[in-house]
Amino acid sequence: MPAALDIKEEILELKKQRNAVILAHNYQTGDIQDLADYVGDSLGLAYQAKSTDADVIVFCGVHFMAETAKIVNPGKIVVLPDKDAGCSLEQSCPAEQLEAFLKENAGKNYYVIAYINCSGAVKALCDVICTSGNAVKIVEQAPPDRPILFVPDENLGAWVMEQTGRKMDLWKGNCYVHVEFTRDSIRKIKDQYPDALVVAHPECTQAVRLLADEVCSTEKMVTWCKNAPSDNLIVVTESGMLHRLRKECPDKNLIAGPTDRCACADCRYMKLNTLEKLRDCLANLAPRVEMDEDVRKRAEAPLLRMLEQSK
Ligand code: 13P
Ligand code: SF4
Repeated sequence: MPAALDIKEEILELKKQRNAVILAHNYQTGDIQDLADYVGDSLGLAYQAKSTDADVIVFCGVHFMAETAKIVNPGKIVVLPDKDAGCSLEQSCPAEQLEAFLKENAGKNYYVIAYINCSGAVKALCDVICTSGNAVKIVEQAPPDRPILFVPDENLGAWVMEQTGRKMDLWKGNCYVHVEFTRDSIRKIKDQYPDALVVAHPECTQAVRLLADEVCSTEKMVTWCKNAPSDNLIVVTESGMLHRLRKECPDKNLIAGPTDRCACADCRYMKLNTLEKLRDCLANLAPRVEMDEDVRKRAEAPLLRMLEQSK
């Protein structure tokens, strides 16, 4: 009798049978990242999802990311390991609330920019989408004669305003992981490593961003850390990032405090995905992302505009 396959071999075997591609966000656990065909940030993953010729996209990330893959590549079967992998930013901006707000403020003729961390129904109400990797570029290309409404992340929005000098009205949403980091906790780590440089995600609060030497998307963190002029680097974001960084920057001392949870913390949604659930979603081709075609089409236009404008 042949020996039982271990779970990693099972996943690779199923991937071959299904002609699937495994896309993983930088916040996934190390074992998932190591099995993926591509690991990256929301922007890189959207490009990968659009260009793949696989029949099945297995999206190891959170729901809005898998939904984005379906929007830009509707002919594919898109599955995700855990259908409950949500996002606090997505929850902070329900489509009905945004629709009502836009109706009440119809006279303002807002140009609506949505951070990609939102539902397909919200994307369908917007002019253009952005990610943390291209938000500055997208805002710079907004029509100069229209007021901008930026949804749903007030921290990313505030950072983009600082970078571009463009005023925007901000939806009051935030990422529950990144707003937990405090200036004091980062200061304490810095006291232990006075020469350390700090890199933070723009979803952090302004108090934390002001302490950072660099503020950028998860993918840009990789390049920045590789080239940083110090060996000691404090990384302020979700803890999955450390796996990617330790692999890509083996010579750097990536400091996350006495445990990996001091400057970095887990996103409970990202961490719902496991190797077992990854295997099962490949075996069952479920849970599957399905979308109303009218909403998908309306969400596709601002996403394609983003891909075009961020080239
Ligand atoms: P990135 O696009 O920078 O990877 O960010 C995604 C995210 O969810 C951050 O919390
Ligand atoms: Fe959403 Fe924050 Fe988790 Fe990113 S880290 S998926 S923004 S809850």
